[in-house]
Amino acid sequence: MNTIASSRAIALLSASLCCAAWGCGGPTQSGAGNCPRDAALRSLVGGDASVQIIGATATPEQLNNPMYASTLACEFNSITPENDMKWETIEPQRGVFHFDRADQIVAFAQSHQMAVRGHTLVWHEQLPDWVASVPAAAFRQMFIDHIYNEVFYFRGRVARWDVVNEAIADDGNGLRQTIFRDRLGPDYIALAFITANAADPAAELYINDYGAEGAGDKANELFRTVEALVHAGVPIHGVGLQMHIDTQYGVPWNYFEPVVGTRSPPEIAANIARFRALGLHVQITEMDVSIANLLGIDFTRFELQRAVYHDVVAVCVQNRSCTGITVWGLNDSASWLNSQLLIPQNALLFDDMFAPKPAYFGVQAALAGRP
Ligand code: G3I
Repeated sequence: MNTIASSRAIALLSASLCCAAWGCGGPTQSGAGNCPRDAALRSLVGGDASVQIIGATATPEQLNNPMYASTLACEFNSITPENDMKWETIEPQRGVFHFDRADQIVAFAQSHQMAVRGHTLVWHEQLPDWVASVPAAAFRQMFIDHIYNEVFYFRGRVARWDVVNEAIADDGNGLRQTIFRDRLGPDYIALAFITANAADPAAELYINDYGAEGAGDKANELFRTVEALVHAGVPIHGVGLQMHIDTQYGVPWNYFEPVVGTRSPPEIAANIARFRALGLHVQITEMDVSIANLLGIDFTRFELQRAVYHDVVAVCVQNRSCTGITVWGLNDSASWLNSQLLIPQNALLFDDMFAPKPAYFGVQAALAGRP
């Protein structure tokens, strides 16, 4: 079955199962037809609200799961491909581009009135092996070609891109040592943004990172880097703060290589404000809240998780700080975190029956401006 036919099949299947699961006279119309819940998250963003998008990640396999697909379409108005727009998938051999998997996700988004956050054009992880073998004299053009070809292919269908991902060193001491910094120098970041902007001038272009959400050396280095790009006239439009945190606002999977800095709600608010003062969008791009290191009964663990989701989203809503919030997965077992520490992280908004957890209602309340 070709890409278009398969993506239409996904759309029809998810819409019909949405009706079968919840009836077709449901309270909330959305991209998926009738949905089960009043005040679905996507009904609380957009328009004159400060938060324009509420998103989640997807893979083609997850979109083949009717419950995943219908929950995604009912509750969210943005999709981030979790892995399928990364270099290893898009250009597995030099000059050979594969868009079929990403096309399925984009087609689903389009058929459910959802935006797409392209993720990610330049990242030192999930790179195919051939990149490192490109001779120095050809590396810059190869770099430009990858970015230009991918952005141009999706132009008009991807609203915003994570152009450069995780470029800041975890200790906040300059840029992370990556093949791109080594081969092209620190200006690789500007080159990436200029190239992406040339391929799709209408796309919002973001730099994206973790551990820089609040205060500390890494957040300050991200700010210095972004400020320099803005002052140099580089076409950067936004900053993505990943927000992979635990209930103490720590960075859960880096217990072995502590990420510097802290990220309480007031520190997040102050950090966002300085990026906004540069005239940039700020989005929470990969939120999950691990409770693996929380002891106690599930009721109290999930209540604390709800409070953290609520308080971070409330920062976004206050002072019209953020224009978007994306969670990194839909149901708990879909979380990448489960492969990190091999114990259930229960980090997301829905359980594995796709029932909303307290965390979901924390996000809903914050988007509605409620405690
Ligand atoms: O595609 C292969 C498949 O062929 C193979 O059979 C399978 C088993 O080995 O692995 C598959 O690749 C996996 C890939 O996800 C696609 O599913 C990799 O092993 C796995 O490591 C990779 O994990 C992704 C991770 O980035 C890579 O660092 C996670 O799904 C993804 O959620 C995670 O997302 C990143 C963001 O892009 C950037 N910010 C941090 C975030 C968490 O690391």
